[in-house]
Amino acid sequence: MTPGSFETLEQKIASKTAAVGIIGLGYVGLPLAVTAAKRGLPVTGFDIDPGKISRLDAGESYIEAVDSADLVALKAAGQMGWTTDFSGLAQMDVIVICVPTPLTVHRDPDLSYIERTAEVIARHLSPSTLVVLESTTYPGTTADVMTPILATSGHLPGKDIFIGFSPEREDPGNAKFRTATIPKIVAGDGAEAGKLIEAFYTIVVDRVVPVSTTQTAEAVKITENIFRAVNIALVNELKMIFDRMGIDVWEVIDGAATKPFGFMPFYPGPGLAAIASRSTRST
Ligand SMILES: NC(=O)c1ccc[n+]([C@@H]2O[C@H](COP(=O)([O-])OP(=O)(O)OC[C@H]3O[C@@H](n4cnc5c(N)ncnc54)[C@H](O)[C@@H]3O)[C@@H](O)[C@H]2O)c1
Repeated sequence: MTPGSFETLEQKIASKTAAVGIIGLGYVGLPLAVTAAKRGLPVTGFDIDPGKISRLDAGESYIEAVDSADLVALKAAGQMGWTTDFSGLAQMDVIVICVPTPLTVHRDPDLSYIERTAEVIARHLSPSTLVVLESTTYPGTTADVMTPILATSGHLPGKDIFIGFSPEREDPGNAKFRTATIPKIVAGDGAEAGKLIEAFYTIVVDRVVPVSTTQTAEAVKITENIFRAVNIALVNELKMIFDRMGIDVWEVIDGAATKPFGFMPFYPGPGLAAIASRSTRST
């Protein structure tokens, strides 16, 4: 055990000197990296895709929610950098994982990205580091899959290193809610990890909502996704039925949405299956 691991990290986060590494610079990771850098934390983005890193080097954002001008300004100010060289993880105090979690052809969760990433982190991990998983996954992944891999570093979870989960709620294309203004669920694997993850995200976003365990935080995300999936499927079924009855489903939803409680409007669309077939991404 490294004496003072918790206190050292707590102090670095509080003083905004904690070096933050974001792994996976996609729809979730890049906006998060820019938001954290804008709020004064020194940020390094890590991605295996050299094409993305080249575009960032050229000052070009490939994510709608991120302004190219912000990338250029944050890089020039020394507030943000990016690389494909994962050895730099050794200098990070907070590491956030935003890699994909697609479904396999059998529609099982494909955790290989999380596993590969945890293995790379374990190879470079320094004591007194907070590691946070943001990728969407099933309850238990942080404790049962990620933590044992990180423990192969030789650093003791809960003593030398601290582990947490904070589900991503990014909604690409949503002009009303951006990374900083979407409330963030956080949970640590133990009381000290809980304090660290809450302190970190309190800098990055406007509202942090701590829950008691990483499994609970993972279940919150899955619940949100199930709620959305079921309601999208429901409203598409209702559209087909009402169409046959000569009833305008949009007028029905607008009418139902005037109920001030117990109803949330969902609108007919291509459906989850169509969305899933166009992309390997889960939300
Ligand atoms: N996009 C959304 O709207 C959304 C919303 C909520 C949650 N999520 C979840 O967030 C996670 C990330 O999704 P995304 O949409 O940002 O995916 P994405 O495909 O846009 O980005 C993932 C990035 O990770 C990189 N990557 C892949 N393997 C890597 C590795 N081993 N090491 C480093 N980088 C690696 C890829 O090159 C890519 O840049 C997923 O679990 C997803 O389910 C996404």
